[in-house]
Amino acid sequence: MKDIFYKNILEAKNYINQNISIKPKIGLILGSGLGALGDEVENKILLNYSDIPNFPVSTIKGHKGRLVFGNLENSSVAVMQGRFHFYEGYSMKEIAFPVLVMNSIGINKIIITNASGGINTNFKPGDLMIIKDHINFVFDNPLIGKNIDSFGPRFPDMSYAYSETLINITKNLCEKNDIDIKEGVYISMTGPAYETPAEIRMARILGADAVGMSTVPEVIAASYAGMEVLGISCITNMAAGVLNKPLDHVEVVKTAETVKYVFSKLIKLIIKEIGNI
Ligand code: HPA
Repeated sequence: MKDIFYKNILEAKNYINQNISIKPKIGLILGSGLGALGDEVENKILLNYSDIPNFPVSTIKGHKGRLVFGNLENSSVAVMQGRFHFYEGYSMKEIAFPVLVMNSIGINKIIITNASGGINTNFKPGDLMIIKDHINFVFDNPLIGKNIDSFGPRFPDMSYAYSETLINITKNLCEKNDIDIKEGVYISMTGPAYETPAEIRMARILGADAVGMSTVPEVIAASYAGMEVLGISCITNMAAGVLNKPLDHVEVVKTAETVKYVFSKLIKLIIKEIGNI
């Protein structure tokens, strides 16, 4: 990591601080199908990624590519509408950049959602899964390079990367509101090709319950910077080889669309609950 990385973060931070008057405490990175939650933010201030100094810019068609600041459930939030993936060609550092910028403007809690393939045979498409831990199968790390001591230590502990407190709050809310929730280990692969059946069998042996192509770099950066992290996966399909049928991106999108309502409801309940702690 070159020193310029830190300078770049500070430039982005200064730009944001000059353009917003609120002090958000909760960050949201929304995966496939959930982006619309950003539209529900009240008293919105929109900052396009392309206007924020040094911010990466989304390459995916239909991804908005902007930060939404404002209130959701009476909590002050910053929502990333559009995220960055390793398979698009972004480096781990570029993917982590927005998270460190969020941290530098005072955000101390982050909710990260994604779409993933179910490896655990007790899961079914449409299930929501709290991520309790992850396996970084991308074999790269956003923290490689010179350490920025003001963010975190050279060798950050990942034992508690996913906040126990936020996990318990989520489980309680699901119980109270009759929302079915699973819990498991997320394994990240680079994509963009879906995995082979043999890779999925391997991942199951390694202890993974769901597989996806995102989330891990953001979680590493957030945890490093001392943020409380909550990760929730939408199981959009069973992973390769689990069922005797081909994988289809259209199915992934369709399932994400189907659970959108309950998923947004859950995220809003969580924000309402944690907004004041
Ligand atoms: N594999 C990897 N990423 C995914 C999948 C999958 O099966 N489904 C949604 N994202």
